[in-house]
Amino acid sequence: MLSDFDLASKCKMHPYRPTRGMALPVFHDKVTLVTGASSGIGRALATALAQQGAHVALVARHETKLRELERQLASLPGRRLVIPADVRRPAEIRQCVADVLHEFGRIDVLVNNAGKGFCGRIDETPLEDLQDVMTTNFVAAFLFLQAIIPSMTRQRSGLIIQMSSLNGFSAVPLASAYAASKFALEAISESARMELKQHNVHVLVVRPGLTDTSFFDNAKNFRAQNPFPMTRFMSADEVARKTLRAAARHRRELVLTVDGKLLWWLKKLCPRLVERILGRYVKVRPVESPADERANRS
Ligand SMILES: NC(=O)c1ccc[n+]([C@@H]2O[C@H](COP(=O)([O-])OP(=O)(O)OC[C@H]3O[C@@H](n4cnc5c(N)ncnc54)[C@H](OP(=O)(O)O)[C@@H]3O)[C@@H](O)[C@H]2O)c1
Repeated sequence: MLSDFDLASKCKMHPYRPTRGMALPVFHDKVTLVTGASSGIGRALATALAQQGAHVALVARHETKLRELERQLASLPGRRLVIPADVRRPAEIRQCVADVLHEFGRIDVLVNNAGKGFCGRIDETPLEDLQDVMTTNFVAAFLFLQAIIPSMTRQRSGLIIQMSSLNGFSAVPLASAYAASKFALEAISESARMELKQHNVHVLVVRPGLTDTSFFDNAKNFRAQNPFPMTRFMSADEVARKTLRAAARHRRELVLTVDGKLLWWLKKLCPRLVERILGRYVKVRPVESPADERANRS
């Protein structure tokens, strides 16, 4: 029998607009787990899923933000489960998956979205910051896959959404640790897609461009000012809407923003030109002064 995901992809259905003969949106009654649900893209995705009637497990460190979101979504169909967890801790990841399986009996959709940024040249990146970014953006996603795959393969269906970045295919100066974590995320996504196809588990890689969230405020930055040009943002709601539409259509990957799509093709066709442009685009100045550096570190 075809799953709702299969039907939606065959009908090319818009997930928000029920079509004739299909009264419910694609994610209605699906059990979903969204990491990084306390703000930005994760929060918007959790909201969009709830609007479609999904049950949503909300995962992040800040419990008060998750509770506030839970309250805001209370009038929507489906149930919510708040799970405060630090995804850098493997035991908390295992417990989180166990809690969702205990509460709902299955997990249909995993959104590996929790992430953090880091801004600094390679020679000024402390080992602990490199490890922190890799653990949050890559190792945690890997461990969530490990924890969830057995139940998805048993139920012979599932969808995994990996929140990558334009930096998942194109690194930029001052973001080597972040780009490395997203390149690694892309690699496990490809492996997962090949390993899980036979079990009817699909993998969607999403690569947002600049998105209007707290991401850059939360990113550790050794400079007094953000060196990345902050223009042409997409809203988190739009990222969420496009992500769920791509998922409903069985897309394998999604590159967002006009700039992102241009970068995708330029990178394939003329990588040297891309490096030249990006090298000028991002201002690789040294840190302003030892005092600035100390202020930014604290
Ligand atoms: N904004 C952009 O321009 C942009 C562009 C491309 C890709 N992305 C990607 O999109 C994803 C979401 O980012 P965003 O823009 O929505 O940023 P954001 O507003 O800063 O949200 C990041 C989320 O990750 C959670 N998180 C961070 N560290 C965590 C940890 N150790 N344990 C559990 N949760 C953790 C945060 O929750 P707590 O602090 O409550 O734990 C928060 O909910 C990230 O993977 C990011 O790399 C963003």
